[in-house]
Amino acid sequence: MEIVILPDNDAIGGLAADAIANLLQRKPTAVLGLATGSSPLAIYDQLAARCADGAVSFARATGFTLDEYVGLPADHPESYRNVIDKDFVSRVDFAPGAVQGPDGLADDIPASCAAYEAAIAAAGGVDLQILGIGTDGHIGFNEPGSSLASRTRIKTLTRQTRIDNARFFGGDLEAVPTHCLTQGLATIMSARHVVLVATGPGKAEAVHHLVEGPVSALWPATILQHHPHVTVLLDSAAASRLQLADYYRETFRAKPAWQGI
Ligand code: GLP
Repeated sequence: MEIVILPDNDAIGGLAADAIANLLQRKPTAVLGLATGSSPLAIYDQLAARCADGAVSFARATGFTLDEYVGLPADHPESYRNVIDKDFVSRVDFAPGAVQGPDGLADDIPASCAAYEAAIAAAGGVDLQILGIGTDGHIGFNEPGSSLASRTRIKTLTRQTRIDNARFFGGDLEAVPTHCLTQGLATIMSARHVVLVATGPGKAEAVHHLVEGPVSALWPATILQHHPHVTVLLDSAAASRLQLADYYRETFRAKPAWQGI
């Protein structure tokens, strides 16, 4: 796990955008794993600006989103399909239909989740997965207690996650769906490179467990300790509970910039 502690969101967005731009240069048909939430917004802003300048193109790339609420109408502004379109997909040059997400309105949820897994596999798997992390250590919507071997499936959201996300539903906890579909932890682990972003003091405890805690379903993100290529991009507040923060800082300072992440 590479831990990079940076001054601010702009620096985080820039470093991650560099990695994605390099990937697309090497492999224009790259498969990207896209996350919603506030954490990746700086990455999406940087990529949108670079795409507008002609420095990067998604024209031959494809994308898969991590998760979706169950039961929100297709035109609901908080459905993750609409959120990712607004925050990223509509701002760059993906081909129509190139980005897919789990179908939170499917009649047959298990069949739809299996089809989603099959679509990711058929695309050749995810080359680079962008991730945020919940305050309870969830990635995607893999809440505490998720099987470390899980695949795309339905999950019940914890009360804490619904409280955290109520701000997107006018502060009304009752308006936040109770269930979601999410790529499983094993699905996320299949990505070739995982780039996780966490900022702010509210993420410090989850980051502490993610990086330095024991691997446990209680803190689902800890499964990433078993992944061979994970980059964790943090600001100082999110890194504030890391025992080895100075070591991570020194290590990154000594790394030649051309190597990227
Ligand atoms: C949400 C999403 C996650 C996201 C996390 C953190 O519940 N399902 O994919 O990473 O919460 O969100 P944020 O980045 O806004 O803090």
